[in-house]
Amino acid sequence: MSDNTAMAADRATVLFFELFSGLPRQGPGSPASTRQALELVPGVGARTRVLDLGCGTGAQALVLAESSPARIVAIDLHPPFIDALNREARRLGIADRLEARVGDMGNLGLADGAFDLIWCEGAIYNVGVETGLRDWRRLLSRDGHVALTEACWRKARPPAECVAFWEAEYPAIRDTATLLEAAEGCGYEIVGHFPLPASAWWDDYYRPLQDNVTAFRERHRDAPDARALADGVQHEIDIWHACSEFHGYEFLVLKVR
Ligand SMILES: C[S@@+](CC[C@H](N)C(=O)[O-])C[C@H]1O[C@@H](n2cnc3c(N)ncnc32)[C@H](O)[C@@H]1O
Repeated sequence: MSDNTAMAADRATVLFFELFSGLPRQGPGSPASTRQALELVPGVGARTRVLDLGCGTGAQALVLAESSPARIVAIDLHPPFIDALNREARRLGIADRLEARVGDMGNLGLADGAFDLIWCEGAIYNVGVETGLRDWRRLLSRDGHVALTEACWRKARPPAECVAFWEAEYPAIRDTATLLEAAEGCGYEIVGHFPLPASAWWDDYYRPLQDNVTAFRERHRDAPDARALADGVQHEIDIWHACSEFHGYEFLVLKVR
């Protein structure tokens, strides 16, 4: 990579994280949905070892810690998210059972059977559902569980603009029944599943992100690369407004078979 290419890549990363900074979470989800999924996992207690993958700044890890006495290791690729979560855990006095680490969910150097529950909200798409479910299975104890959210089609015949958006952003999106079949094919049984409500998209994620996009656009009025980034995120939000009845996130709770 030339110095100029490296500088351009650095600027893109800096702009990306500026646009997404200060948000309560980095993807759709809500405390109520996290608690609803946790209730589907039997016997969570002080001896339960949880691995939260793609934790971001830890919205769900903090809910898990507040709702149970489990011990949690939370992993994300982005060091500033990890620093923020460790700071918050210390502030709350729970750093003895919630530890955030920088790591790659696609290359986890962790021991076999080291966890009882793997949590992954809005992040398994980074490695792909099948790859994640198959690779992470070895990390789980015999009766281990996985809880994840993943984008799904909810209704047949979505509008063309919605199809075009997903074809460009995440062509692996499928309907809920096909996603459940894929999870079963990876060696899990379905304990339960439910769709995220619209409020988990708008109130918890897109409304704060919309405020960020508006302020970011103001700050970078003369920078075409920043404007293009803001346009892309705005398009995603607009597509959600136009097509949210056709696509959403499904929360899946799975048990090792
Ligand atoms: C859409 S965000 C979801 C964050 C968080 N779970 C939430 O719901 O707020 C996806 C997260 O995955 C992280 N990520 C992307 N690739 C990753 C990888 N290979 N290993 C670990 N984390 C990754 C990103 O840094 C980001 O924080």
